[in-house]
Amino acid sequence: MKGKKIWITGAGSGIGRALAIALDEQGASLILSGRTKKTLQATQSLLQRKDDCIILPLDLGKFEEIETMYHAHHDLLKNVDILINNAGISQRSLVENTTFDVYKKLININYLGTVRLSQLMLKDFKIKGKGHFVIISSTAGKFGVPLRSGYSASKFALHGFFEALRAELVEEAIDITMICPGFINTDISKNALSGDGSLHGTKDEAQSNGMPVELMAKKTVAAIKAKKSEYFVGGFREAHLAPFVSRFFPNLFRKIIARSKVT
Ligand SMILES: NC(=O)c1ccc[n+]([C@@H]2O[C@H](COP(=O)([O-])OP(=O)(O)OC[C@H]3O[C@@H](n4cnc5c(N)ncnc54)[C@H](OP(=O)(O)O)[C@@H]3O)[C@@H](O)[C@H]2O)c1
Repeated sequence: MKGKKIWITGAGSGIGRALAIALDEQGASLILSGRTKKTLQATQSLLQRKDDCIILPLDLGKFEEIETMYHAHHDLLKNVDILINNAGISQRSLVENTTFDVYKKLININYLGTVRLSQLMLKDFKIKGKGHFVIISSTAGKFGVPLRSGYSASKFALHGFFEALRAELVEEAIDITMICPGFINTDISKNALSGDGSLHGTKDEAQSNGMPVELMAKKTVAAIKAKKSEYFVGGFREAHLAPFVSRFFPNLFRKIIARSKVT
């Protein structure tokens, strides 16, 4: 990672922040993005090599701004070696209680914003003839999870998009790594949307008991270095057993997930 220019979205908290710290320790040169400048600055203050880090505020839900920002900072961004598409928001609401606006927000931020940014980055990766997209998806991008219909859908969409792109890039030295975390101890559930668009505001038990985010970041950095195509990280039950059962025993899995007490 030494000397590599790595752009992380959603770097002001949770997984993005932990990845920034882990990558900084390995000598990467960082660009940190997210909506809130203050939290990005807080991440920067935790780095050993603060001077080798640039903050670029960015709202993935504002597609035109993504483009304007990208072109305005093109001299910097054209040299990015790895784009870590990490930013995202979750959801906690039954389909019947969820407004259409919430679905639009989830798909705009988690999927379309990521697509727009990655398309812009792709042009520069192709000019250089190399690059690496890392996508922080979710196990919920591999199977549907109750109370997360829009979130699951947005993460499924990322898999569809990036698997198609992977096939298009077969002749190129451009890599794609899909990271599928299970429960990681961050504030994701606090920041999740309720059915009416307000913040869920509480930290789920599963989240609190999830894998420590520093450990998740360490494992994820190893998976990025190994250029893995897909990597599951988290607890054995949700990040290893569940994906296996859902893939090889889908009908059994449907029964299990329907009866699970996932909140
Ligand atoms: N924690 C888990 O258990 C878990 C499991 C599976 C997958 N994931 C995925 O991991 C990623 C990071 O989540 P986390 O757990 O670290 O939660 P988090 O602490 O809530 O981080 C989400 C980050 O995304 C940024 N963000 C939200 N909306 C944005 C927007 N419109 N434009 C740009 N940035 C935006 C937030 O910063 P601002 O609010 O400042 O913009 C925040 O830094 C997400 O994609 C999530 O789906 C997490």
